[in-house]
Amino acid sequence: MRRPLVAGNWKLNGSRASNRALLEGLTAGLAGLSTEVMACPPYVYLAEAVATAEDSGLLIGAQDVAEQASGAYTGEVSAAMLRDVGCTHVIVGHSERRTLFGDTDERVAAKFSAAKAAGLVPVLCVGESLAEREAGTTEAVVARQVAAVLDAVGPQGLDGAILAYEPVWAIGTGRTASPEQAQAVHRGIRDQLAAADARIGTETRILYGGSVKGANAAELFAMQDIDGGLIGGASLDAQEFLTICQAAAGRDS
Ligand code: PGA
Repeated sequence: MRRPLVAGNWKLNGSRASNRALLEGLTAGLAGLSTEVMACPPYVYLAEAVATAEDSGLLIGAQDVAEQASGAYTGEVSAAMLRDVGCTHVIVGHSERRTLFGDTDERVAAKFSAAKAAGLVPVLCVGESLAEREAGTTEAVVARQVAAVLDAVGPQGLDGAILAYEPVWAIGTGRTASPEQAQAVHRGIRDQLAAADARIGTETRILYGGSVKGANAAELFAMQDIDGGLIGGASLDAQEFLTICQAAAGRDS
């Protein structure tokens, strides 16, 4: 049984004061939830978030990581540094990194490897643009993005890692993939992983992301291969985010 996970990607939002209020709201609502829950604040707030979340069960992850381990890479933050401040997870390959900051499939694979080497759980994001969906290339694009990492680390390198399918046209647009559209891609990803290694295919959690809200979470999480969500906008409101977490917990029952 794959335990559901709901992760909040806070992106470039918040302040020390607003983070504290949000984290306190989240930790207060976590008790008894069977879902794993994670928050991903901006780098500079991670250490404080780890301290605030301590003993609550809330996981703290980063939104990105350097592919390099150390050296003359001004502005970068390494996987070991993220571990050092208490992070357990890191998002790699978010579409905003790919499209706005030039993260190629190869760089995403290098970041994935760097995360694994430092003992972090990578959350690998994949997904097609609107033009790619309309051109009928969704499966090919997603398969290429997954293959870049599989080729770099091998099937066993995905052991314990998490995938997130996030169609670019659904991120921050209010336009969600239908449960059936999402399920079809999730199934394709699982089949691709299973072809490389049956156990990895069965055990890997695949999250859906892109305009998930309290109102649409349950129908998405009811699909067989959707194991939780990666949530942007709706993760900035504790009550809304907890409603999504409860919908994922309902997947278990
Ligand atoms: P959204 O973002 O929930 O605001 O669409 C999702 C994401 O970018 O991870």
